[in-house]
Amino acid sequence: MSACVTDCVTVFSFWAPVDADPRCYGEIILLCLFDTHPDVQKLFPKFAGLPKEQLQNNPNLQAYGEIVVCKLTEILKVKGEHKEPMKALAESHAKQHKIPLVNFQIISEVIDTVVAEKLDGFGPDAQTCLKNVLKQFQIDFGSLL
Ligand code: HEM
Repeated sequence: MSACVTDCVTVFSFWAPVDADPRCYGEIILLCLFDTHPDVQKLFPKFAGLPKEQLQNNPNLQAYGEIVVCKLTEILKVKGEHKEPMKALAESHAKQHKIPLVNFQIISEVIDTVVAEKLDGFGPDAQTCLKNVLKQFQIDFGSLL
């Protein structure tokens, strides 16, 4: 694995605010994702076609945001050794939700941006570590399919 333990440990050292409020961070990430990539929104049956106003304060969107962020936190906590739990996730996204792999790159870029903007002191070194973790996440997803 190229996203090493150090990358996960570094990112996790800034992660307390995210861990404390995954719903809020998840919501910001998804709103930013749908705002910058409207096509990605269409891949979510619960959100496809909803206008912007109905995405704000939407409990389903907040709940899914929380799921994504909690999964990322879990990956950081196990320091990238996440192959087994990832397999089920990779399979559900490929087979059940029919999500092309490129969308993981897109959401990763949005996560990078939101985290760099919101977390105090999350400078270029920490950003590189997060990029490495998310890159490895995409590679694992691809290799598990
Ligand atoms: C950081 C990347 C992501 C993580 C950690 C993540 C995590 C999850 C988890 C834990 C679930 C629920 C369990 C399951 O169905 O396997 C889920 C469901 C789902 N994910 Fe993701 N996901 C990610 C990226 C994406 C992307 C990029 C898309 C689409 C563009 C997507 C679309 C969906 C959909 C449609 C569901 C079903 C939601 C529902 O029940 O309504 N996911 N995801």
